[in-house]
Amino acid sequence: MKVFGVDIGGSGIKGAPVDLEVGDLADERFKVLTPHPATPEAVVDCVGQVVEHFGWSGPIGATYPGVVTNGTTRTAANVDQGWLGLDAAKLLSERVGAPVTLLNDADAAGIAEMAFGAGRGRKGTVIMLTLGTGIGSAVFTDGRLLANTELGHLELHGHDAEKKASTKAKEDEELTWEHWAHRVQKYLAHVEMLFSPELFVIGGGVSRKSAKFLPLIEGIRAEIVPAALQNNAGIVGAAMAAAAQD
Ligand code: BGC
Repeated sequence: MKVFGVDIGGSGIKGAPVDLEVGDLADERFKVLTPHPATPEAVVDCVGQVVEHFGWSGPIGATYPGVVTNGTTRTAANVDQGWLGLDAAKLLSERVGAPVTLLNDADAAGIAEMAFGAGRGRKGTVIMLTLGTGIGSAVFTDGRLLANTELGHLELHGHDAEKKASTKAKEDEELTWEHWAHRVQKYLAHVEMLFSPELFVIGGGVSRKSAKFLPLIEGIRAEIVPAALQNNAGIVGAAMAAAAQD
């Protein structure tokens, strides 16, 4: 079965039909640059363009980089404030002419990793953390998601953790891998103290460079592995969430 997945991110809005049996894209993905400012109207239109590129009709899953409850976007840490309290799923459905299931981006990535990637078959508490512009989290217990956890905004040494340990912080402050890994280690220790997971899955674009920083992280009891699906996890997870709605 195929369902369409769209990943709404800070730099790009990308999508493709997803083959749900294998958990991979069924076609080469199509991307449009995220408009700035990323107002709901502008972003919704981009999602429409991505869907139209494939001539897709049928259910669609989409990610959003913030809290989403019943299709309404509740937070807007790194996007336009116009998303606050918006029935974004309805707006998207009207634009694409099909039902749209909207969920948090890290939750989507986590769902895909648990089914087809680094978390496959893992019991107990598994925490996926996406390190990018912000820090996203997806918490699973025996494979079941606790949606909309916002562990990226835990306070760490008096700061919003994502402001210190995201890859954006690494770039903005021109941190070395060692320095940044030290911050990530402090952050993981804090999350571990609160949740005692068996496994951390580290996602986001930087997971491709895990060899540069994961070996530098010490003193964490949980196993730490890079995400396996990398860039496509959000698209795959969004499509899976839409299929689960049927
Ligand atoms: C948001 C999360 C999101 C993460 C990654 C954070 O700033 O609060 O909801 O998952 O960024 O995009």
